[in-house]
Amino acid sequence: MPADLSPIDKAKFAAAHRAVALIEDGMRVGLGTGSTAAWMVRCLGERVREEGLKLQGVPTSTRTADLARQVGIEVVSLDEAKWLDITIDGADEFDPELNLIKGGGGALLQEKIVATASDQMVVITDASKEVNHLGGFPLPVEVIPFGWQTSRALIEELLESMDVLGRQTTLRLNGSQPYVTDEGNYIVDLHLNRIGNARQLALVLNQIPGVVENGLFIDICDKVIIGGADGKVQVRDINEGSVSEEQVTFAEDDNIFADLD
Ligand code: 5RP
Repeated sequence: MPADLSPIDKAKFAAAHRAVALIEDGMRVGLGTGSTAAWMVRCLGERVREEGLKLQGVPTSTRTADLARQVGIEVVSLDEAKWLDITIDGADEFDPELNLIKGGGGALLQEKIVATASDQMVVITDASKEVNHLGGFPLPVEVIPFGWQTSRALIEELLESMDVLGRQTTLRLNGSQPYVTDEGNYIVDLHLNRIGNARQLALVLNQIPGVVENGLFIDICDKVIIGGADGKVQVRDINEGSVSEEQVTFAEDDNIFADLD
């Protein structure tokens, strides 16, 4: 493992390294977004360069697309790939059923579409993202700019009848301006603290006009790979009901920084 990484980056790297071992020649792979997913893209790029692995990557953001191209992964659109063998992505929270909150990086819409179009979704993470109940991390809701304040008011009205601990909402900003997603939309973050019924909330939020998607990923994730700074990884598979522990070993000269040259 590269020695000069911070402990948190070592943990993310360990999870990412283990996850790319799932990739086989010829696969169509969904490429997630965020700092953990970026490690995965780098590790995958290394396999493409060193093993001549032939695969097609479908990125979930322009950031990931740029990185994937830089490290030598062939990038295609979801419409070109049509269906994916696997998607590997990070998460902001995961619970014991492997339900997720995603969208901290603002890419939840493409991430949900791509993950749903995959035979399996694998989440890579460090241990800090594990929770008993979702909701500590603000829940992102993507809304179209037209009438966004009305959509936000409708979301707040809906939350009055929901089993949640907090009901504050904030428009995500980029400096003093609204943060704009790759699809040109805004994000309203819901500060719920604890979500009693995530499945119900995920469904009703998407019924509000102007809401495009929310960051609750229910019954989408198949496997979570939790990395530790010491290279230990735990693999939890919700379908098999299995938990396994492994040690990831890395070559000291791992050339995963091709994009940083
Ligand atoms: C982006 C996401 C990310 O996967 C999530 O925010 C985790 O990011 P990181 O790996 O940087 O902690 O959902 O929209």
